[in-house]
Amino acid sequence: MADTYTHGHADAVLASHRRRTAENSAGYLLPHLRPGLDLLDVGCGPGTITVDLAARVAPGRVVGLDVSADPLEEARALAGRAGVAVGFAVGDVYALDADDGSFDVVHAHQVLQHLTDPVAALREMARVCRPGGLVAVRDVDYAAVTWYPADPGLDDWLELYHRVARRNGAEPDAGRRLLAWAHAAGLRDVTASTGSWCWAAPAEREWWGTSWAARASASSFAEQAVAYGLADRERLEAVAAAWLRWAAADDGWLGMLHGELLIRV
Ligand SMILES: C[S@@+](CC[C@H](N)C(=O)[O-])C[C@H]1O[C@@H](n2cnc3c(N)ncnc32)[C@H](O)[C@@H]1O
Repeated sequence: MADTYTHGHADAVLASHRRRTAENSAGYLLPHLRPGLDLLDVGCGPGTITVDLAARVAPGRVVGLDVSADPLEEARALAGRAGVAVGFAVGDVYALDADDGSFDVVHAHQVLQHLTDPVAALREMARVCRPGGLVAVRDVDYAAVTWYPADPGLDDWLELYHRVARRNGAEPDAGRRLLAWAHAAGLRDVTASTGSWCWAAPAEREWWGTSWAARASASSFAEQAVAYGLADRERLEAVAAAWLRWAAADDGWLGMLHGELLIRV
């Protein structure tokens, strides 16, 4: 049975993913990129990171795959505007439509946390990576998301998010587990690091807070929370209100810790 993607592709979700760049989301990989490398970006979503990476490896071949067609049209439009060549297509990380050893770099940002079998996904990513090439993965660790000021509504958001994601068979505290997953996949040449995001400037607070308020009100996450009997509309609206309070707080601050791996194949 196919995995259930907790976030879905509502505009509030894509609005959040669109802010991602190679610099703010794949800094650990950038020193290893050079022109001419062939790169596969798995679970590429709206493709902002993919397009940035493509500019760095041109004229290498770049492919962005996502299990859902929903975000790919805007990814193609973005690549067109940026003037970089990227082939975007529907594809599944568990069964990549690529020969063994056909890419120098196989990248996935915030994807493994959504899968029921991240170890199988890593094995498949390594299969299509050339000997000597790199598999690069980065995932948040939700239990390590922290904020100010304290708000019971945000505590409730975190608890609810954990419960919905785990009900989907996914692992929201993925960052700390990446190394163990790589080892379980038989991958031993692994460099682990951490990265972080910090949202505190007024424009960032406004964007993140209103985006999560909208996601708590109407998105796959909200629908799943209700369908699984984990929350009613009232509880979700209280979570949305908490995000808006945080966005409006002059001292509002939020930090997210990410695990990162560079795996030499
Ligand atoms: C959190 S989004 C990350 C998107 C993009 N990498 C970024 O960071 O902006 C996760 C993406 O993984 C995709 N995804 C989920 N399961 C997948 C699978 N089995 N194979 C490929 N993509 C998958 C989802 O459709 C979604 O677009």
